[in-house]
Amino acid sequence: MVKTIRDRLRCRRTAVLLASAMAAQAASAAGTAPHLETRDGRTALFVDGAPFLILGAQANNSSNYPAVLPRVWPALEDMHANTLEIPVAWEQIEPIEGRFDFGYVDTLLAQAREHGKRLVLLWFGTWKNTGPSYAPEWVKFDNRRFPRMVDRDGKASYCLSPFGEQTLAADRKAFVALMSHLAQVDGSRHTVIMMQVENEVGTYGLVRDFGPKAQAAFDRPVPAEVLARQPAPVKRAASGTWREVYGDYADEYFHAWAIASYIEQVASAGRKVLDLPMYVNNALRDAVEPLAPWHSNFASGGPTYDVIGVYKAAAPHIDIAGPDLYNPASAQIEATLARFQRPDNPLWVPEMSQAPGYGRIVYEVLGRGALGIAPFGIDYTNYSNFPLGAKDAARPALVEPFAASYAVFGSMGSLWARWALEGRTHGVGEGDDRQDQTIALGPWSATVSFQEWQFGEKSWPGHPTEVPPGTEKPSGGVAIAQVGPDEFVITGQHARVRIAPAQAMPPGHGAMFARVEEGRFDPSGHWVMERNWNGDQTDWGLNFTAAPVILKVRMGRY
Ligand code: DGJ
Repeated sequence: MVKTIRDRLRCRRTAVLLASAMAAQAASAAGTAPHLETRDGRTALFVDGAPFLILGAQANNSSNYPAVLPRVWPALEDMHANTLEIPVAWEQIEPIEGRFDFGYVDTLLAQAREHGKRLVLLWFGTWKNTGPSYAPEWVKFDNRRFPRMVDRDGKASYCLSPFGEQTLAADRKAFVALMSHLAQVDGSRHTVIMMQVENEVGTYGLVRDFGPKAQAAFDRPVPAEVLARQPAPVKRAASGTWREVYGDYADEYFHAWAIASYIEQVASAGRKVLDLPMYVNNALRDAVEPLAPWHSNFASGGPTYDVIGVYKAAAPHIDIAGPDLYNPASAQIEATLARFQRPDNPLWVPEMSQAPGYGRIVYEVLGRGALGIAPFGIDYTNYSNFPLGAKDAARPALVEPFAASYAVFGSMGSLWARWALEGRTHGVGEGDDRQDQTIALGPWSATVSFQEWQFGEKSWPGHPTEVPPGTEKPSGGVAIAQVGPDEFVITGQHARVRIAPAQAMPPGHGAMFARVEEGRFDPSGHWVMERNWNGDQTDWGLNFTAAPVILKVRMGRY
């Protein structure tokens, strides 16, 4: 076909328009890159422009290879997880210095998209469970270029020093290479929604580095931004050296500052090329015992609850310090969640044991308004990290504690994340004491009780002493979103929920259920009622069994 000049001009104009439309589209895709939004001290993760609830699953430590991925995805499917957390190891992307290989990353991205899953990538760099095991061999065995920490006598620790300038430069370079690659292959797709920088940092057995560079920094004044964010547990000098300000806590706080400053360099350089939310995870210190200076009882320098302020000051490009929950004591879990959830530190549980007792924690964590949660060791490689995690790592036992609650939350994930941002959500997990728990809901109060049959009262004479199957150990959990003054969306497992006025009503007046609809939210977020609970189903409170459902409850007064 012969084109006239006018045709050609029209074509060129169309091409220009198309190009600028594509550029605008790319810009808007970039504009909707995964990011955090904070309102009134609460934060949500936005993915593709909408609040996103991470129903995560973390693969085992050595599942980060293409040959293993086929054993990872079925576990996520069975669990109804929407996000895979998986390592990208420094040793695998840069086995030879300066030569990068992103073959695994590309396979992972392609398969994640095929399976409709998002990714949180775990950068196993200088520190993985505090050690350098995932650093390339050219790093971990060259103490001259990449120094280890030393103790007071100059004896080397297993842990690489946060004062190693070449270590930092090399880790940062590799991380930037990874982020640049992601920017190219995923910048507008948003398969990767968040990055973890390093893994469970800190040092066991040594409170800090005593090498000459570290010692010189320790003797200098505490930086002003640290003074502003990190109060001293025991009030001393308002400024001065670490020892003068933080006394017996100085070594640990200084080490936290050194590691956080290192991580900041890595994270900020990475975010310059691809600005994704970034976080660090933490091997916890005891959250219940009274705070005391480090005495070899946890990894010094990690983002434990007592030094979150140090991390905020030293690592502004790290959005979150998240707790790894591996102590099943309910008092520990509750105290840990309370300490990590702060207006400047959104709650995000990047790791949790996948042992059966942790199923109930999903309700507590998501009810608290967390960005999400991710049990660890979720794949069918038949690796069991018992006694930390589940004994039975086979399909489907491994994922059973989470599959049902994940399916329920998954059906209303974006709504739930929005309600959490608006401060409407609440949650409880059954305590080790099996006692009732109450949830304040403005003019209403919910009482949650456990080990209840669906019918009748424990107080009845002759009530069975036998407990419902599945409730022999603490297993109950409830999450409630208050969607209107008298209206609630409730889900739970192995629990009974009663709702009553928070204040006693005048004589002759009372309250009762107006509607208790069981149903689901359709993909556009509209409620679809399936049936209305009444009679036996409401006379003894709202009873959730092992199979959670969603109830939309409206209370009325007379
Ligand atoms: C916590 C670590 O972050 C994980 O990588 C893993 O080592 C678990 N502990 C133990 O299975």
